[in-house]
Amino acid sequence: MKLFIDTANVSEIREMAWLVDGVTTNPSLVAREKRPFRDVIAEICEIVDGPISAEVTALDADGMIAEARDLAGIHDNVVVKIPMTEPGMQAVARLSGEGIRTNVTLVFSANQALLAAKCGATFVSPFVGRIDDIGGDGMGLVAEILGVYENYAFLTEVLAASIRHPRHMIEAATLGADIATVPYAVLKKLFDHPLTDTGIERFLKDWEGVPK
Ligand code: G3P
Repeated sequence: MKLFIDTANVSEIREMAWLVDGVTTNPSLVAREKRPFRDVIAEICEIVDGPISAEVTALDADGMIAEARDLAGIHDNVVVKIPMTEPGMQAVARLSGEGIRTNVTLVFSANQALLAAKCGATFVSPFVGRIDDIGGDGMGLVAEILGVYENYAFLTEVLAASIRHPRHMIEAATLGADIATVPYAVLKKLFDHPLTDTGIERFLKDWEGVPK
């Protein structure tokens, strides 16, 4: 399983670069950084040698393709994030033909994921947390997509996105999601367990009684 960090903050990325296989950003995450978009993406590409998702903002296929070509020109590791719309899928099909890798974002149904795969998407991003937010079953969608892709041996990788807490991570891994993209705060929590802390404390206390 590959682990991506879901942030545009270069300090967070630098700290976790030893661990992560890639980075995902979106317009909201980039806006928090108050820096030019291209500069942020170029800097991230220097920090992590893996897929770096950068999102287009045009809504029409030609506009998305123009932005995608520009973003892909920043660095070989850039993967262009395209929203799951009909023009978006036209763009993905054409970009796939040009060898530009894509990450289809804002995916909320297995039908959307099926279309993304048929159009040649490199990654598909079901937004688990946002489905849970409205009372749905985000991980159920991940399972459904994995099943559909297995039926037809699609090469598109399932990237569990909108991960909100450590339990999401366990569930994504148990289902066999190819990748999870995880915010910095959640990533840090994955290391922790209270029994690890108390275990270390007890070992060190007992160690004091060992003759030196
Ligand atoms: O990778 C997608 C992610 O950035 C969305 O997360 O928490 O805004 O739903 P969230």
